[in-house]
This record gives sequence, C-alpha cells and structure tokens, in this order.
Amino acid sequence: MQTTISKLAELVGQEVTLKGWAQNFRSSGKIAFLQLRDGSGFVQVVMSVSDIPAPEWEVLQKLTIESSVEVKGLVKAEPRAPSGFEISGTSFTALHIAPEDYPIGNKEHGPEFLFDNRDLALRTKTTWAVLRIRDRVFYSIEQFFHEEGFIRFDTPILQPTSCEDTTQLFSVDYYDTQMFLSQSGQLYSEAGIMGFGKVYAFGPVFRAEKSKTRHHLSELWMMDAEMAFYDQAMNMDVQEKMVKRIVKDVLDNCKAELAILERDTTILQNLVDNPFVRLTHAQAKAELAADGITVDPLDDMGTEEEIYLGNKYKLPIFIEDYPAAVKAFYMKRYVDKDGVLRARNADLIAPEEGREIIGGSQREESYDALKKEIVDRNYPLEEYEWYLNTRKYGTVPHSGFGIGLERTVRWITGVHHIRETIPFPRMLNRFRP
Ligand code: 4AD
Ligand code: MG
Repeated sequence: MQTTISKLAELVGQEVTLKGWAQNFRSSGKIAFLQLRDGSGFVQVVMSVSDIPAPEWEVLQKLTIESSVEVKGLVKAEPRAPSGFEISGTSFTALHIAPEDYPIGNKEHGPEFLFDNRDLALRTKTTWAVLRIRDRVFYSIEQFFHEEGFIRFDTPILQPTSCEDTTQLFSVDYYDTQMFLSQSGQLYSEAGIMGFGKVYAFGPVFRAEKSKTRHHLSELWMMDAEMAFYDQAMNMDVQEKMVKRIVKDVLDNCKAELAILERDTTILQNLVDNPFVRLTHAQAKAELAADGITVDPLDDMGTEEEIYLGNKYKLPIFIEDYPAAVKAFYMKRYVDKDGVLRARNADLIAPEEGREIIGGSQREESYDALKKEIVDRNYPLEEYEWYLNTRKYGTVPHSGFGIGLERTVRWITGVHHIRETIPFPRMLNRFRP
C-alpha cells in the first residue's frame, strides 16, 4: 500500500510503499540503514542482504545522500526511534541517484553557507520543523478569524501612499508613475470595515529598513485585522485570544516539530491559560528605571528594554499608550495627566526574546483631526482623500492590529534568527536564491 510516513501509526504490522529521499545512508555490506524522509516525516528503513533481491541490493550499495527512492517494507513500532516506527525493508528502487557532491553533507555548516544554499537547506530536519510550525500558525490565524466573524479582505501590494512611515518604502516603477510596495494593508482594511464590519488581510509586506538584526526582514508576512465599533480595550482582548489560540494549536499539533527543535515549551504552555501582562508605556519605563536600566521615558521601547521585560514576566506583555510622537499618524490620541500626547495603542511583546510581535491601536475617527495630522506630517493630502472618506461618510470608532508572522514563528520555535522562519528570506544583505 502506497502511503506516507505521517500515516505509519495506523499501519503497524502492514506492508507499505514509501517514496522519498535518502537523508542519510550507511551499509555494512550485510545490513543497510536508510534514513528516509518523504516531506511528511522521517523514518529509518533497515534492510538486510537476505531480504532484498540481489540486483536491488547492488543498487542500494551505491546510494548517495538525497537520492530519490522507493522502498517497500513492514511497519514496526520502535519506541526508541524519534518517529516511533521503523521499516523492515523488503524491496528497494532508486528513482534517481544524486551525484556524490551534495553540498550540504553531515558536517557543520555556517549559517551563511546554508542560506546561500537555501533551496537545498529546506530539506533539513530543523527547517522542516520550523516551516511546518509556520504553516500551522498561518492556518490557526485563518481559522480564528473566520470563527470570530471576520472575512478575508485582500489589500493591494502596490500602493501609491505610505501606511507606517515614508522613510521605509521600496519604490517601484509603475508604468509612468512611482508606486510603493505595501508596508501594511491597514489603510485599505479600514475602508474594508465600512463595508464588512470586521476584516483581516494576510499578505507579504515590505520594509526598506536598514536593520541587520535577527528580528528584521525586508519582506515579511503580516496579518492586519480591523474591526468597526471596537475600542482599544476590545482590540487587545481579540489579540490575546488569538495569540493563545495560535500557541495552543502549535502545542497540540506540532509536537514532533517542537521536539526536533528541542523547544522548552514551559512558558508557551503557561501563557495559554494565564492573562497577559498589561503595562502602560509610562509604567514600563518607570519599572525599567527602578530596575536600574537607563531609559528615555518619552522614547520608543528599545530592544534591550523589550527583552528585559519579557524575561522578567515570562508572559506576553501589552505595552499601552506610547507617546504619539513615536507612533503612526492614524492612531487616536489623548493628552495624559502630565501633558504628554499619547496614542491609544499597544504593542504586544513576546517573552523569551520574542520582541514586538503585534502592533495595534484604536484609530483616529475624527475627519478634522486625522486630516490635520496628515498635513502636519507633510504627507501628500490628495493621496489620502480616499482614506479620509472613511471618516467623512459615517465615521465610527474602530481599532485594529497587525501581527508579524515571522516574528511570531521565531518566538514560538525558539530559533535564533528570523531568517529561519521564511522559506526564502529577503534582508538587507540577502536576496538570493
Ligand atoms: O508595528 P507595525 O509596523 O504595524 C503596522 O504596520 C500596522 N499598520 C498594523 C496594523 O495596525 N494593522 O507592524 C506590525 C508587526 C510588528 O509588530 C512585527 O511583528 C512585524 O509586523 N514587523 C516585522 N517583522 C519582521 N521584520 C520587520 N522589518 C518588521 N516590521 C514589522
Ligand atoms: Mg510596531
């Protein structure tokens, strides 16, 4: 019976056919051990000279790493194997014998080498585990939003204006005019909720940031959610519920992947059932200062500050109400008791050096206030007329947020660098293959 490694649990004691690749191979001349992978999982096939027809055995002795193969054999439970199973081979066919110079051997390779050969590195076990968790996070978010009554609302990638900040845009020649690659679908999602109430957009966005950190990509996948008649408190509740759902789904469905990554899941398990921490920006800065860290109380949260708070609380932390000066033009504002103009916003900081995974806010719903902000920031007003229509015709209080898929996957998988979390990363110094 033709099957996949992922289904072996139901097939113990049966004869199966598997098609895949030789991840590793060794033979003593009498007995051969083939580490087989087929995309769905990994399993060891043990073949003995006495069980395999002689011509097949001869080909088997010439097997090279990453050759494609077909094997038949008996499924056995094997508690000592990571997969829990082993195959006793009875027949072997080489579909293609790969040349012996497979670049990614069993020796240690530096990360740059692996990313230069990313097309091949995708075949390794850790990449398999990380990108399957990525798939689960994506699926979990899509399920969550449909259950919560949102519709998927695709926003354009080619945009004539900036959403977050005009300095981080990639510019594109669009026939005879200039356009930009989307930094976020948010402004379009805001128009979307006037038609659909609750929408989310999931797509690639682009940030021309000159950051070379392990938290920044130039091309990333972002999910922007937007909700009519939601204030900032309701906005944070949706985010907390969603993050718990994502983490629970990964813990329940990606046990093998987390085991491959040797991920300590204590903190992940704990956050599923516990309320997230909520601190205002002013509280967070005061707390950092009290703990001996030098802070600028009116500046954005710094890398070390986010990491420090994450380590301290070991839970996701909403940092609320940043100084408006360090945040985007569309956020609703208020003046606090000390006279500081603040945004009704929150960034969600993940523990374990996850940094900011979500940025969200209540939006300014006043036509005049929003228009003034656009003018004050010297944005081209005529390009924002359509966006201002959301406030001109039946404006409503509304809120939304954006979650970075790769930041989230980096945190949940615990891999060191964000480039591990996307099949083909795009960064300042990395855009091939
Ligand atoms: O905080 P950001 O810039 O928020 C927005 O773009 C809003 N328009 C979202 C909204 O309210 N609809 O980006 C949202 C998230 C960040 O929290 C982070 O997870 C991720 O996107 N992100 C990046 N991830 C990797 N590399 C980068 N260069 C990133 N920039 C943002
Ligand atoms: Mg942000």
